[in-house]
Amino acid sequence: MIPTILVTGGAGFIGSHTTVALQEAGYRVLILDNLCNSSPTVLRRIEQITGVEPEFVQADIRDGGALDALFQAHQITAVMHFAGLKAVGESTRLPLAYYDNNVNGSVQLLSAMQRANVNTFVFSSSATVYGDPQKLPLTEDHPRSATNPYGHTKLVVEDILESLYNAQAGWRIARLRYFNPVGAHPSALIGEAPQGVPNNLMPYVAQVAAGQRDRLQVFGSDYDTPDGTGVRDYIHVMDLAQGHVAALRYCEQARQDLLTVNLGTGKGYSVLDMVRAFEQASRKTVAYDIVARRPGDIAACWADTSLAEQKLGWRAGKNIKDMCEDAWRWQAASAG
Ligand code: NAD
Ligand code: UD1
Repeated sequence: MIPTILVTGGAGFIGSHTTVALQEAGYRVLILDNLCNSSPTVLRRIEQITGVEPEFVQADIRDGGALDALFQAHQITAVMHFAGLKAVGESTRLPLAYYDNNVNGSVQLLSAMQRANVNTFVFSSSATVYGDPQKLPLTEDHPRSATNPYGHTKLVVEDILESLYNAQAGWRIARLRYFNPVGAHPSALIGEAPQGVPNNLMPYVAQVAAGQRDRLQVFGSDYDTPDGTGVRDYIHVMDLAQGHVAALRYCEQARQDLLTVNLGTGKGYSVLDMVRAFEQASRKTVAYDIVARRPGDIAACWADTSLAEQKLGWRAGKNIKDMCEDAWRWQAASAG
């Protein structure tokens, strides 16, 4: 029997790339997504890449009945849980929507898994749970904190998973703390498609290079970093996708486990490093202005990747040139 993986939020940015990686690793994928931040066209794009269109159910993770029907109809062996809301600014304006989608949604999903006796779970957490780093690189035992409702939802779901693990034998859980996922599949068939004005750096840079936006605003040049702009650990989304396959395999081999690992590259690049790398990849100019710091931003953040290497036998292979080239190819293809 081919193991079937339920991928919630599989039509979204990271979920779609992970679906490709899962299919290429021999898994059958069933996507559940309410399409609140994605389009069903991604399903055919995935088929163009892998030759297999993933099965798809349009439903909400908060709909227990829909989940029960899904677990009854399919031999699901594991769940990868990407579905959720992810915009930090929006989360401060709409906290209840964030707690409902991200926390209540996760509780509903885990409850349905419990009813169906499925106990292998891979969760999309975030480096945001480290708050303002006390030391770099960030190791998994760094104290956690949250400064906005989005970050708090990740922290709470991490805690819920720990409580569940402690309460009931047999759970195999991976809490994956992503650093900054960027780039796109090299085919340019799938990528990140933010609605409206992008909140994150790389989609904004891509749109400036493409002439869709005039200038990038660089949020602060007075940080304690080599060039004064913010430093982050950007990771290619395909590397991240492979990290998920490795985490799934790790869980499948465990009798029970609660694994918490960083998925990053271990290297930090500044905003201006990324602007220059993007200019080289696109052969376009990315005009920018230095403006005030964005409230809530930290100076620098990058991962200690040794635990992921040791536990998962996984490390990121792509560099910022790959990230920018693939992001640019996707930008050019999706604009055309
Ligand atoms: P995304 O918005 O592209 O994908 C999320 C998907 O979930 C979308 O397709 C959306 O339609 C779906 N969805 C949202 N709420 C749902 C619900 N209640 N029921 C069913 N489907 C629902 O986001 P992404 O960038 O792919 O992020 C995936 C996960 O990774 C999220 O949990 C996010 O918080 C986490 N994460 C993302 C980043 C990042 O920078 N992109 C960083 C760290 C963690
Ligand atoms: C942001 C979120 C974080 C989330 C992550 C997901 C905030 C405060 N933090 O992180 O919780 O987990 O996205 O990827 O929103 N920058 C600019 N100009 C821009 C956009 C960004 O200069 O138009 C700078 C930022 O100041 C930062 C860097 O680029 O130094 C990266 O920003 P971004 O892509 O938004 O990611 P994070 O802030 O790391």
